[in-house]
Amino acid sequence: MKNTPVDYNIVTNLVKESGIQDVGKASIREIKRLVDRIEAATGNKFIRMEMGIPGLPPAQIGVEAEIEALRRGVASIYPDIFGIADLKTEISRFCKLFLNINVNPEGCIPTVGSMMGGFACFLTINRMYAEREGTLFIDPGFPVQKQQCRVLGQKFDTFDVYEYRGDKLKGKLESHLKDGKISSILYSNPNNPSWICFTEKELQIIGELATKYNVVVIEDLAYIGMDFRKDYSVPGQPPYQPTVAQYTDNYLLLISSSKAFSYAGQRIGMMAISDKLFNTIAPDLKRFYYSDKVGNAMIFGSIYSISSGTSHSAQYGLAALLKAVNNGEYDFVEVVKEYGEKARIMKKIFLDNGFHIVYDRDEDQPIADGFYFTYSYPGFTGEELLKEMIFYGVSAISLAITGSQRLEGVRACVSLVKREQFPDLEYRLKKFHEDHPY
Ligand SMILES: Cc1ncc(COP(=O)(O)O)c(C=O)c1O
Repeated sequence: MKNTPVDYNIVTNLVKESGIQDVGKASIREIKRLVDRIEAATGNKFIRMEMGIPGLPPAQIGVEAEIEALRRGVASIYPDIFGIADLKTEISRFCKLFLNINVNPEGCIPTVGSMMGGFACFLTINRMYAEREGTLFIDPGFPVQKQQCRVLGQKFDTFDVYEYRGDKLKGKLESHLKDGKISSILYSNPNNPSWICFTEKELQIIGELATKYNVVVIEDLAYIGMDFRKDYSVPGQPPYQPTVAQYTDNYLLLISSSKAFSYAGQRIGMMAISDKLFNTIAPDLKRFYYSDKVGNAMIFGSIYSISSGTSHSAQYGLAALLKAVNNGEYDFVEVVKEYGEKARIMKKIFLDNGFHIVYDRDEDQPIADGFYFTYSYPGFTGEELLKEMIFYGVSAISLAITGSQRLEGVRACVSLVKREQFPDLEYRLKKFHEDHPY
């Protein structure tokens, strides 16, 4: 029996009982359930870094506006599929004020989270041209999006961007685009899981190649404004959240409310389709839709089929929230800065105890501190590390499930870790380091 911070025998037995063949390869939900059980059996509170869920209260302006809308009786009325007028206007304003781009309110559409937004994109965009096959994911990425492509029976292509930052991105992207099979490119920025952020140069490369090869960029801004190295919080003033939309008009943005406004439970997100893409005519869409105009196929074909729009009250909540944000009355960036502060401290604790940060740079700049970071420990694969660290009361997920080639890597999410737990984290990592000298 080993002397580990969490009882070795109990953990070993519970892992056996869980039926999980290999903890290192387990899904996020499996890890969650296992850790819940270990916590209950041992009374040890884990440093829980596996789930990417907000750790802050929801933005109150949204909650109040939703309650008021419900009291007014909106629950009994089907919302328009394309979204309520106020929300469409505020999304368009948000795009102007925080990204410095012009998107017609017509192309600003609420979705049932960016999760549904992504699904609607794969459904519509990847069917614009019969000879094209699917999405190119610039990895590492959010595993569920590939699952969505699988569910749709669509092919996809991926590469890990780690070795292809800066100028190298051009050749790599072109090697995937040149045979004309790719219909869309998807990445998140800041990136889940690695927290890398593309530089302006990289966004320019992506944008210019999207135009050259007539590929739609689906830019997933789930963590908009959260690269805290720059202050993107002031509406209508530079610096603005960097976006590929500065470099191509062939884009579609997914802006989630889940993390930026801690609004994950209401399942409402935003899709902003560029004016050019919205009005693009793609005759092959007629195979699946009544209209061959992208915007119409998206709204009246895909979104209608999936969910007939987005919860009415949540739309009022988000509209009120965005209005306050756009008017400079609510600083959403200030609220979520706490994630960056926690990441800075936690990364130091990891580094001080023999761990390394895996994705550590944006070209020549150290990466930002934010919602996620990635770590490794010499001599371990990510899967082995994850498994071993369960005995030390630390849970996370392996980068292997994110399309990363850095098999030594583990993703940590800082949101659920409380500051009071930092001494525990320090003690456990120190003990891990002592037990695994190199
Ligand atoms: C990169 C990325 N995209 C999309 C989502 C889903 O966002 P939503 O909650 O709006 O569906 C997440 C949530 O974790 C994410 O990390």
